[in-house]
This record gives sequence, structure tokens and C-alpha cells, in this order.
Amino acid sequence: MSESTPRPRGLDGVVAAQTRMSLVDGQNGRLVIGGYELKELAGHATFEQAAHLLWTGKLPSAGETAALDRDMSALRALPPAALAIVREAVAKGAPPIDTLRMAASALSLDLANPNDISPAADLAAANMLVARFPTVVATWIRLRAGQEPIAPRADLSLAANFLYMATGKEPDPVAAKALDTYWVTVIDHGMNASTFTARVIASTRSDMVSALTGAIGALKGPLHGGAPGPVLDMLMEIRTAENCEPWVRAKLAAGERIMGFGHRVYKVRDPRAEVLSAVAGEMTGAQLEDRSLFDLARACETTIVRVLDEAKPGRNLRTNVEFFTALVLQSLGLKPETFVALFACGRAAGWAAHVIEQHAEDHLIRPKSEYVGPVGLTIGS
Ligand code: COA
Repeated sequence: MSESTPRPRGLDGVVAAQTRMSLVDGQNGRLVIGGYELKELAGHATFEQAAHLLWTGKLPSAGETAALDRDMSALRALPPAALAIVREAVAKGAPPIDTLRMAASALSLDLANPNDISPAADLAAANMLVARFPTVVATWIRLRAGQEPIAPRADLSLAANFLYMATGKEPDPVAAKALDTYWVTVIDHGMNASTFTARVIASTRSDMVSALTGAIGALKGPLHGGAPGPVLDMLMEIRTAENCEPWVRAKLAAGERIMGFGHRVYKVRDPRAEVLSAVAGEMTGAQLEDRSLFDLARACETTIVRVLDEAKPGRNLRTNVEFFTALVLQSLGLKPETFVALFACGRAAGWAAHVIEQHAEDHLIRPKSEYVGPVGLTIGS
């Protein structure tokens, strides 16, 4: 690169790694995960199976699925040190995503050799972390509500067990399937900031727990973990389907953006929105905690897309993943403050896969910086 060539800011457009985890094709609205189109995978493979796909390169057979489910469900309970951290974090008012970061780092205490980065050790640590992250979030929810945590059950899927631990009720199968599909939908998405963070940490030959703890830190920021809250705030303000069009027109006239619409990479409909929209549709029959907002959102979506097409012709502003994430999770009775941590529970499987891939590549990620400060200063000048 010559001295006059502008450097890409934030590594924009730079290919930082080769991966077999996911292909994000923004022009054509395609997301391929481990070789499968998202629509092929989400809703057809469980989250545990999709995790296995990324960790090993292939979907598990029926026998492997049974073994995987058995192994992961046996790992769900939090060891005392991690549980103590969650209690302390809740007592101090820490949000779920910070609590998850703190508890995640303590989970290495439970590994016989936390510095082992062999493929077998990586796989074992991936199983353990992905099995326990939802327990941390469910424990936070219970303690925050002034209730004692509920012990995990081994006879439920990871998603169903999370809902059971969070609510104490037998989970509705449709609700459990919705959460499972959400986690598959967000399991991996190219070289996003948290995945890159995990890979940078792993590239120093650091361990799985360290890499995933750092990745949680990267996901926490509002530019990455998203802000599904604004989507819910918007729907609360709109209140009724009839009020939607005048509300949207007024916002656009004031130069404001409509939350949950438009996307930087996808110039056609975000394929994850497509999948989560279908999930939302399937949830119509479920015993939802609160479906009023959900019904309103379904009614508003068409109106908003129509008005945006009119106001911003040619921009193709379509519903993005955040809109449906907010709706699906809210419909399950989960509070917006838990959404980023629940995103982390799904993305953790993708992070772990990238750590395995990076350890196999064994090459230190070490970009350069361009110094723009002064030179030649002297002390006392
Ligand atoms: N509502 C209204 N107008 C929008 C819009 C939205 N959600 N998203 C983009 N636009 C308009 C911009 O105002 C701009 O119009 P102009 O050319 O008349 O100035 C045009 O579309 C292009 O905007 P730009 O920011 O260049 O598009 P982008 O593709 O880079 O933006 C987002 C991607 C996600 C940042 C953008 O779509 C957005 O801000 N969406 C709303 C926020 C959101 O949904 N976040 C998710 C969490 S809630």
C-alpha cells in the first residue's frame, strides 16, 4: 500500500481470516452456515446440532446427537464459584451481559487444564461453555426477581431448559422451538467484531474460556450486540395498528429513522429476519406471556415497509433481524435487558468454532498501526 493510499478504517473490507463457518452475501441476502443455507438449517437442526456442525464440520448422526445432548445437558449446572459471582453481580445491579462475562471467566476453574488448547480440550470447553451460558442468564433472571435459581433439567433441550430455569414452568414446545431457532439463526455471521475478538485472543495460543470471555466484552457494545430496546419502545409509542402510518410519516418528516428497518450489509431482506419472521408466525398458537405487542408488530411491518418505500424510493429498506429478535424474545416473556446476553448464548457456539479453527491455523493475528502522533519531543520542552 503506497503512502497516499487511504487505509481502511476499522479494517473495513479487509479479509481477516479464511473460515468454513459462515458466508454472508449482502447483495443477494444469503447466509450460509457450515455449508447450509440458513433457511435449510434453522428450524430443521437443533441449536446443539448446529453447534456440532460448526465445531466438527458436519451435522451429527442420530447417535452422535443423543451423545451430544447427553454430554451437554450434564454440564449445565453452574459450579459454586460461578454461581457466587452471579449472586454478587445481581446484588450489585450488574446487567446480564456483564454478569455473563464475569461468570464465563470463572468457568475455567472447572477445567482440569484450562490452558490446554488441543482439539479435544477445545471441544470439551466449547461444550461446557455453551451448556452453561443459558444457566447464567436464567440464574440472573431468577435472582433479579428475588427468587432462588432453579436447577437445570437434563431431559430438556438447551432452549427448553433455559425457559424452564427462567420461569419455573414447563416450557411450551412452540416457545422452546422459537428460542432454539433464534439461537441457530444468530450462531455465526461472518467476521463480526466479537468473532474477530475471539479469533485474535485464540491466535495468541490463549485458551477457549479467555477467547469467549473477551468476545462477550466485544458483543456488549451497542454497535454490535444491538439495541433491540428501541424496537420495543417504538411499538409502545405506536400503540395501535391505526396509529402506525401517521406515526411513521411524522418520524420520517422529522428526519428520524425507523428502528428495525434497513441494513448496512444486506441490500435485500436480511435472511435472518426472514427466518425469525416465520418463527414469529409459528408462535401464533403458543401460550405466550404477552402477545399484544407481537400482534401489533405484525400489523405494523407491512405499513412501515410500504411507507419507507414511498419515502425512500430505491433504498429497499426492509425489516432487519433486530425487529424480529425483539419480538420473538419479548413474546417469550423475556425482558429487553436480557436480550444481548441471550444473543451471546447463541453466538457462543460460533465463537467457539472460530477458536477451534484459529487454533488449528496457529497464526498470530497482528495487524499494523499507522503512527499519527508527534516525534522528536524532549523532556522539559
Ligand atoms: N428509517 C428511515 N430511513 C432510513 C432507515 C430507516 N430505518 N435506514 C436507512 N434510511 C435512509 C437514510 O436516511 C438514508 O436516506 P437519504 O439517502 O435520504 O439520506 C438512506 O436510507 C441510506 O441510509 P444509510 O445510513 O446510508 O444506509 P445504511 O444501509 O448504511 O444503514 C442502518 C444501515 C442499519 C444503519 C440503517 O438502516 C438504520 O439506521 N436502521 C435503523 C436502525 C436499526 O434498525 N437498528 C437496529 C437495532 S434497533
